[in-house]
Order: sequence, then C-alpha cells, then structure tokens
Amino acid sequence: MTLLPEVIDAVGGKIPVVAAGGIADGRGLAAALMLGASGVLMGTRFYATQESAALQAAKERVRSATGDDTLRSIVFDISRRNVWPAPFTGRCLRNSHADRWFGREIELLRHQETEAARYAQARSAGDFDIAAVIAGEATGLIPDIPSAKDIVENVVRDASALLSNSARHVAPHATSNQIS
Ligand SMILES: Cc1cc2nc3c(=O)[nH]c(=O)nc-3n(C[C@H](O)[C@H](O)[C@H](O)COP(=O)(O)O)c2cc1C
Repeated sequence: MTLLPEVIDAVGGKIPVVAAGGIADGRGLAAALMLGASGVLMGTRFYATQESAALQAAKERVRSATGDDTLRSIVFDISRRNVWPAPFTGRCLRNSHADRWFGREIELLRHQETEAARYAQARSAGDFDIAAVIAGEATGLIPDIPSAKDIVENVVRDASALLSNSARHVAPHATSNQIS
C-alpha cells in the first residue's frame, strides 16, 4: 500500500511500474491500478494452473494452503545447495523439513551433505513433505487450479467491475457533484 505509490512517485510517471506480491484476483489488480501501477505480475496464482509445469501434488498444496502456511527462510536454499547472499530469503509452504530446520540453519549446514541428498531425492520423487513448494501468501486466495486463460479473463473481468462501481464508495461526494 505504501511502497507502490512511493515507487511510482519516485519514477515520476516515466517508467511503467508493475506491482507484484500477494496479487491473485481481480481485487488485487483493481487495488494495484488504483495505487498507480501499470499492471501486475502474479507468480503463485499462475503456479496453480493447468498449464503450469509444477507437479499436481504441488499445485494441490497451493490450492489448500493459507497465507499462514508459508514461511520465509533459507532452509530450502541450504537444502538445495543454492544459498543466496544475505539478505535474500525465499517464501515457501511450510512442510516437515522446514519445521524441522527453521531456526536451526547452522545445524542444517553442518548436516548439509546428508540433508541435501535427502532433499534432492525428495524433489525427484515429488515428496513435498521435504521438498519445498515455492509460494507466496497469495496461496490463501487460491481455491482452484483453472486454466491460465480463465485466470486472466476472470481477474480482468472482476477488476473491471470493481473499478466501474468504485464511485459508490464516495457516494455523497459523487451525488453533490451530480447536483452541481
Ligand atoms: C514457483 C515460483 C518460483 C519462484 N522463483 C523465484 C526466484 O527464483 N527468484 C525470485 O526472486 N522470486 C521467485 N519467485 C517469487 C516471485 O518473484 C513472486 O512470486 C512474485 O513476486 C509474485 O508474487 P506472488 O507469488 O505473491 O504473486 C518464485 C515464485 C514462484 C511461485
């Protein structure tokens, strides 16, 4: 709510700004456009689509999780031997592996050899109790696994309806304008 208009002001309208993070439906698109964005990028929403290359079991986890089921950490980066420099972390769905090692990252590093092998095997087997499903808090807004086409059409339709009706939220003002 604050970062987006700040960035838009900072670039002075010269650069189109795309909003990302936590947007998964028409409400998110409408809000982002009202804050001045030129468009939105949706990651987690498109992960849970028919066309996505993700495994069905991972898509199902996104469909049934809430935002509170996600966790920002470096546990999965250590486990897949791909640690980014600080301060970068990644948000994933909580699973047994994350619950076991979150807050114990130094210890995980000490066991990296065995845990990385276990993790790699889980990824190949599609075992998402160990392998991470990368997903943002928008997972809590995702009740289905539709086609990408349906998502685009529904998000645009719903945002358009919300924006067309938005004047009713400031009705007294709108009415006095109409009278004058
Ligand atoms: C499957 C998946 C993989 C992702 N991989 C990366 C990545 O490698 N680097 C990164 O900066 N963000 C990554 N992200 C986070 C996206 O940048 C993020 O989804 C995007 O900002 C939109 O947020 P949203 O998922 O809440 O829509 C990934 C997200 C998903 C769903």
